[in-house]
Amino acid sequence: MDEVLNNAPLKELDDWDDFVSTRYQLGKSEEQFRNYRADANPTVTEFYRQNHAHQTLDFVLKKKGEYCGLKRGKKSIWEMAGYLNTLVDESDPDTDLTQIEHLLQTSEAIRKDGHPRWFILTGFVHDLGKVLCLYGEPQWAVVGDTFPVGCAYSDQVVFPEFFAANADANVPEYQTKYGIYERRCGLDNVHLSFGHDEYIYQVARNYLPEEGLYMLRYHSFYAAHRHNAYRHLMNEHDEEMFAWVRRFNPYDLYSKGRERPDMKAILPFYQDLVSEFFPGKIDW
Ligand SMILES: [Fe+2]
Ligand SMILES: [Fe+2]
Repeated sequence: MDEVLNNAPLKELDDWDDFVSTRYQLGKSEEQFRNYRADANPTVTEFYRQNHAHQTLDFVLKKKGEYCGLKRGKKSIWEMAGYLNTLVDESDPDTDLTQIEHLLQTSEAIRKDGHPRWFILTGFVHDLGKVLCLYGEPQWAVVGDTFPVGCAYSDQVVFPEFFAANADANVPEYQTKYGIYERRCGLDNVHLSFGHDEYIYQVARNYLPEEGLYMLRYHSFYAAHRHNAYRHLMNEHDEEMFAWVRRFNPYDLYSKGRERPDMKAILPFYQDLVSEFFPGKIDW
């Protein structure tokens, strides 16, 4: 167990996604919701312990420097989706969805509701940033609820008690309400904990409309889009755009139980859709 808990406490990356959808299960009362600790198995809890301890402002700046310049070469969306699909670890092939299937379930649910093509495409690419794991990043730097670093932590972030172990907790400048930021400075000026959201946002930023980019960049920022925390750092434009983040979230959380996508039947639609917005190869 010790060695498993080391840098990869989650058996699969998706255990985090599953925990989040349990946390926000439809029909849950406020009280049941606040008791999310009961839904977290020991590996999920250990995962958050690591995430909250290690995501410091310094760490985030370092990772942004490493990845946001997109210097890992050119690949098509399809190559990257295929690469992400190699992330299967110990999953049961009969019941567990592959990464591509999760993406297609999300996008198909969006399509069935009649949303515009860019929205469907955003659903299809939203978790491609998880390839960070295949680059060798630890789970706590790839998934997990995101939160601002460099300012006081909100108690609306899950497991807020784990922030006590973060080195930034001892930097008084980082622990005021605004920290290194200014009142309503806008989220574009705020550093969130690093993970798959920021990476896919950077990859897609020249190709998708702004509404879609907000969905990509902030889909794991639950404290803000579910609990209205950190409003003091958001500007009016963020507030408007978060309506789209909220519109996207149910498709991410609740499309999993649906039927397995019929890959063969829907692939032509997606090939068309991807090439409508993205050139053949893009920077990663
Ligand atoms: Fe995600
Ligand atoms: Fe997702």
